[in-house]
Amino acid sequence: MNFRKLPWFDYAGKFSPFKTAVFLALFVPGIITIVSFPLGYLGARPMTQAIHEFGDWTIRFIFISLAISPARIVLQWPRLLDVRRMIGVAACVYGLVHLVIYAGDESWDWAMVASEIVLRIYLTIGFAALLGLAVLAVTSTDGWQRRLGARRWQKLHRIVYAIALLAMIHFCIQSKLDEWEPIVMAGIFFWLMACRGITWRYGRGRLPLWTMASVSVLAALLTAIGEAVYFGIALGAPFDLVLMANLSLETGVRPAVVVLVATGAVALLAALRGWIWPVKPRQKAA
Ligand code: HEM
Repeated sequence: MNFRKLPWFDYAGKFSPFKTAVFLALFVPGIITIVSFPLGYLGARPMTQAIHEFGDWTIRFIFISLAISPARIVLQWPRLLDVRRMIGVAACVYGLVHLVIYAGDESWDWAMVASEIVLRIYLTIGFAALLGLAVLAVTSTDGWQRRLGARRWQKLHRIVYAIALLAMIHFCIQSKLDEWEPIVMAGIFFWLMACRGITWRYGRGRLPLWTMASVSVLAALLTAIGEAVYFGIALGAPFDLVLMANLSLETGVRPAVVVLVATGAVALLAALRGWIWPVKPRQKAA
């Protein structure tokens, strides 16, 4: 075994404090949930809560791994790519634990779990997303990259967008009425996809500031409209009232506001980056 390939070494085989910190951080949500279990911090239905915690972190890690590309461009920090693979693998591991706890909650009756996956559409969708994540995790190694060739490997790994979409649908369907986080995620997903489209249009590594800012506003608008449509269909709530709720804090911070602030902050960071974190000429050349 080549020990230099362990997660705390960089591609040159040198110890990387950054990779080590990210690697350790990936364990934190899981350890907190596992430790909370015997301590009784997971509420009246600890198994259900543990399923939710691992599900939440699976989708969050998928989104963080999708955000690495735009973040690398905005921050002009190529080394961010070093941690994308381990975040993707962590998403898969959390997803598998999510499934295993679900099976535990079903008294380890795997036949029952399989029939539920076939019969309940939100589980079928979640399972398809998990299968996709497993394929990406297995083929994420340098060996598989060589075997498939760079182009085919990249093509295969683009299914991460479909996986994120399936994961979001699974999240939305099971959330029933508490759609706050799924709606935020849908807005951010739109923004990430649009940023990806922009880098294709303008060439890799380019994300003009005005396009990022426009996409932030568009993502927030679509999030607000999406939320109003959802509450209209699910609860018969008047479209204009739900839209207007975005203009006050009476019903809490609405998803569209979160999307605008979060993605707008990235655009602002891109604008200020040159001052906060000047790129040295040697870095530029790299
Ligand atoms: C990549 C794959 C998956 C992702 C990203 C994912 C994500 C999630 C998320 C975010 C939640 C909601 C947590 C919350 O409300 O706080 C959830 C709930 C749940 N997921 Fe998944 N999941 C995936 C796959 C699966 C699979 C394969 C199964 C089982 C076959 C499954 C079973 C469940 C169950 C039972 C719930 C809770 C439903 C309830 O409480 O009514 N998930 N999942």
